[in-house]
Amino acid sequence: MSGHQTPVPLEGFPASGTLESLRIKQLEEQSAALRNSVICAFNQLLDLKDLNTGVHSTRLAEWGMRVGQELGLEESELQNLEIAALLHDIGKVGIPDAILRKPGRLDADEYALMKKHSEYGWAVLRMLPGFERAALDILHHHESFDGKGYPAGLKSTEIPVVSRIVCVIDAFDAMVSSRPYRKGLPYEEAVRRLNEASGTQFDPAVVRTFLSFAQAEMSTVFAAAGTSVSSAL
Ligand SMILES: [Fe+2]
Repeated sequence: MSGHQTPVPLEGFPASGTLESLRIKQLEEQSAALRNSVICAFNQLLDLKDLNTGVHSTRLAEWGMRVGQELGLEESELQNLEIAALLHDIGKVGIPDAILRKPGRLDADEYALMKKHSEYGWAVLRMLPGFERAALDILHHHESFDGKGYPAGLKSTEIPVVSRIVCVIDAFDAMVSSRPYRKGLPYEEAVRRLNEASGTQFDPAVVRTFLSFAQAEMSTVFAAAGTSVSSAL
């Protein structure tokens, strides 16, 4: 044995192990605060471009977390899910307004450009330490369960589970939400469309899990849209 001795803490000072765990805790808190600030900053950017409503993104994050928890996702995946639910369309910042705001149908070229938003979102978020995985989840949020989506044509479990969740809840939210140029679909019609595309566009397990609690959530959706649940249903 060498003559190594465990240092004795000076009176009034915490032992070095305690100092170290305090320091780690402090760093974890700093990185969580930084992560939250980045999410808020990007959300504000979406607001500036009028691509966001506070209610829409918070609702997606809540629904996403609930589906994720019921599907047994790990804590780290849930954290990525929160980011992906809030910022999945951040890449639309790079899409021309004439396309984003076109009231009618997009032509083939316009649609091709619109589809770039998932890659743009990935390209931006992957540069942020700690956001790399969420960036990949955002890249794949328009993949289709049958492999006919974009950008990579991944299918089934090749698609990250977080992307599969965001895909379902975002589609559902878009269906039931009213926009200036169109009224949201009634709840039952949106459910019918989700079920119809379950197994082709959407992951059936995600659809099932989401629909197990979706109806109870509808009062908040229609309250936000200024419509009553009974008239909307
Ligand atoms: Fe999208």
